Amino acid sequence: MILQPTNENIEKLAAVIKSGGIASFPTETVYGLGADAFNSAAVEAIFAAKGRPADNPLIVHISDVSQIQSVSDDFSALAQKLASAFWPGPMSLVIKSNGKLPGVVTAGLDTVAVRLPANEYAFRLIEESGTLIAAPSANISGSPSPTKAEHVYADFGEKFDILDGGDTTFGLESTVIDTTGQVPVILRPGFITPEMVENAVGNVKIHESVLANSEITNAGSPGMKYRHYSPKANVTVVAGNEFIIANRINIMYDRSVSLGSVPIIVCLTADVSEFGVRRCEILGDDAASAAKNLFSTLRNADENGFTEIFFKWCDTSGVGLALMNRILRAAGFTVIK
Ligand code: TXA
Ligand code: MG
Repeated sequence: MILQPTNENIEKLAAVIKSGGIASFPTETVYGLGADAFNSAAVEAIFAAKGRPADNPLIVHISDVSQIQSVSDDFSALAQKLASAFWPGPMSLVIKSNGKLPGVVTAGLDTVAVRLPANEYAFRLIEESGTLIAAPSANISGSPSPTKAEHVYADFGEKFDILDGGDTTFGLESTVIDTTGQVPVILRPGFITPEMVENAVGNVKIHESVLANSEITNAGSPGMKYRHYSPKANVTVVAGNEFIIANRINIMYDRSVSLGSVPIIVCLTADVSEFGVRRCEILGDDAASAAKNLFSTLRNADENGFTEIFFKWCDTSGVGLALMNRILRAAGFTVIK
């Protein structure tokens, strides 16, 4: 059932989690599917419900930085600096684990990803549950992450109760940063951008898998190696010289129509005039607003019967890096250059 975020409902779902059940809750990034991080059976049930590969570890959600002590003995100076700069917020820190979490949460790694979300309902749910909440995004593995309660319901129906916090603020998952070395490494980009990390701690690396097919390169974050965020429609990213790229999309679109497909071009506001009368869905004026709308646009494209989606490669500075990271995975790395 979709539940309004009243005190009573938050207490009810906290009790579900405390007693070994699963509940879905909003965060500022995407909706999560949460269980008591110390209850291996409950966490296993999340993997089963999502159809998630066992080698893909979960993020552990906390409501206070002091809770890190229960999962790690090594909250490094680097991690602390990032935490005080960006928590609560859309950032997960990979730190050394103390081995106390069940292996299913960390997929047997000696590290754990932790996050202090900036969402009032998530915060109260974690606090009220009296534990740490292990939670992946609340979608069936491989499909676009949920940015509203209805998306969770579309994937899982009545399987779990869903705390409705409305549309999520950011619409893309947290930035995952490995802090176990000297220099922070961005494993999955998000709204905490490389530029922001560098400003905070003076240094940053971007993992090679961020814009590359990590089935081929080595994925820093296990989750980056899977085909992800995919609608049923075929997604193609079109790159190339600014002067020919729109023309190239138009040719592909027209060919697709003549073959009986139902294509749509998904683009930024500034680009829409390049595509004439062809069907376009505008994601927003800039990368941040595009990121916020991306996953619901992918879901809507399926619902509205589009079978082909064309994206124009966009600038990868700032939040643009996270946007292109998700779009490339939605496209299964089909890029026309
Ligand atoms: O914004 C978010 O992060 C959302 C909300 C619910 O908090 N959660 C989320 O979880 O996106 P999930 O499970 O969909 O993605 C977790 C990512 C995966 O790419 C996973 O491989 C990576 O974090 N991860 C988790 N633990 C890790 C670790 N110890 N080392 C490297 N990567 C890790
Ligand atoms: Mg996910």
